[in-house]
Amino acid sequence: AITSVTGRRVLDSRGNPTVEVDVELADGSLGRAAVPSGASTGAREAVELRDGDPARWHGKGVDRAVQHVDTELAAVALGRDAEDQAGLDAALIAADGTPTKARLGANAILGVSLAAAKAAAAAHRLPLYRWLGGADARLLPVPMMNIVNGGAHADNPLDFQEFMIAPIGAATFAEAVRMGSEIFHTLRRDLLAAGHSTGVGDEGGFAPDLRTAEEALDFVVAAVERAGYRPGTDIGLVMDPASSEFFRDGVYDYAGEGVRRTPAEHADHLIKLIDAYPVVSVEDPMAEDDLDGWRDLTARVGGRCQLTGDDVFCTDEALLREGIATGVGNSVLVKVNQIGTLTEALGTVGAAHRAGWTVVISHRSGETEDTTIADLAVATGCGQIKTGSLSRSDRTAKYNQLLRIEEELGSTAQYAGTSALAR
Ligand code: PGA
Ligand code: ZN
Repeated sequence: AITSVTGRRVLDSRGNPTVEVDVELADGSLGRAAVPSGASTGAREAVELRDGDPARWHGKGVDRAVQHVDTELAAVALGRDAEDQAGLDAALIAADGTPTKARLGANAILGVSLAAAKAAAAAHRLPLYRWLGGADARLLPVPMMNIVNGGAHADNPLDFQEFMIAPIGAATFAEAVRMGSEIFHTLRRDLLAAGHSTGVGDEGGFAPDLRTAEEALDFVVAAVERAGYRPGTDIGLVMDPASSEFFRDGVYDYAGEGVRRTPAEHADHLIKLIDAYPVVSVEDPMAEDDLDGWRDLTARVGGRCQLTGDDVFCTDEALLREGIATGVGNSVLVKVNQIGTLTEALGTVGAAHRAGWTVVISHRSGETEDTTIADLAVATGCGQIKTGSLSRSDRTAKYNQLLRIEEELGSTAQYAGTSALAR
């Protein structure tokens, strides 16, 4: 049974405060979880509770959320069986009482939910991926490594937020990490040689002064080749334009490029990129409020490329089901803090898998050293993870955890490879 629940304030990777929770069980088992935070958030995400006092932390304080952990949420959790994750999460949701977790804060609730799962795993002396995923959990995900940052994650003029490499042709996860690292360092040299800055953005990718997606993709393809890999065979390209961020008044406003595109022109542009480059997956190709655009693009792309919904679904099972029923993409991004409990996030994964959709487990742009999502990717067997570039410890911590998991699984480990992606 849960004997103590303690919240605290720690720093995230942007230097903002976030919630960390310790859950202790009667046998002394401890679970600890820190909550991430997004910058380009979906409108329908569960509510991250911030104090809003401009005199402290520029309004981003989480003192009230921490207090809710120590008082109301602790009162709900104390004495409960940590093994009953669904029961605990339902009780936490009921205690909050709002549809968006706005009263107690999704950040407070998620911290308790994840810490309880880790405590239960510890009590069973099992790694988290095994506790949640059972003995069959042995599929290592293809990492989507975000090596060029733009949009809300960097100060450069790039309109698209993320340009990623996915080592689909690797034999193991460890090899995928090596390939990614080699390409990352090759890209660094190429950018330097071209006179660009090699400072990194929020997710550890470079943030050069580029304007167009073509320029960014050309640099990435060149780095893949110069590092000795075959674009499209060894390495697939992945983009997250984060299109909701620049969709205004029915138009996609490319401020960096200085071009405005109608939904149809924006879709034409994306299809041109998908056809001209070895793009295997695009996340949020269309804005969350442009469902017509989403459906048109999904029909036009017709399985040539994975189309992953982030802002449009917000890890919400009900929104996902609607999307599945109406042809909005073929894949869902899962961010635990978009929905606020582990049980709900796993419910979304299950609904996607039952529909034959793929799932990408994802970090947020504001992260911590917490590596829960690495275990979640293996536990769900989803075969894909998005957790940033090959720099910044908040990103590499997840890759390092997956390296440990692959080592622990030994010869039973399987690397997802190309087959993980929807098409
Ligand atoms: P966020 O963005 O974590 O800043 O919301 C990540 C994404 O759009 O995938
Ligand atoms: Zn996204």
